[in-house]
Amino acid sequence: MFSATSLSGDKPEQYAQLAGQARALLHGERDRIANAANLAALVYHALPRLNWVGFYFYDGVELVVGPFQGLPACVRIPLDRGVCGAAASSRRTQRVEDVHAFPGHIACDAASRSELVVPLVRNGALVGVFDLDSPDPARFDVMDQEGLETIARIYVESLP
Ligand code: SME
Repeated sequence: MFSATSLSGDKPEQYAQLAGQARALLHGERDRIANAANLAALVYHALPRLNWVGFYFYDGVELVVGPFQGLPACVRIPLDRGVCGAAASSRRTQRVEDVHAFPGHIACDAASRSELVVPLVRNGALVGVFDLDSPDPARFDVMDQEGLETIARIYVESLP
């Protein structure tokens, strides 16, 4: 049975430990829903100061909410809307220090103040996005971005 141990050391060390836990959690499983659900739970409980962690999947038209931890969220996000849409359409991570200053930000949870959205691309095709919200302004720095991009990569590599 998988057991998560609390993270220690500096931020890069903590993300290296989290990546190891993520690999162990997904090992031998290729179901995209199961792996997204377990990763959302792992990250939500491992990292401090988060109020939403989860996945949106691209259905060929727009983003549709997938497994997550946090309050209920908006179900569908067009690619030309929100931080998630910007990450999906540009295929670049969006690190937003102040969501109120981001044009078109979609407030699913009014408590959210900063956000990080990593696009998920598999063999050149858009799979969806990995989205994290924080109630704190500027919660995510470059080290968080790199660490969470690694987690997103572990997820993409687990897909069939
Ligand atoms: N804030 C996101 C919407 C999704 S929720 O944060 C869960 C956005 O602007 O795309």
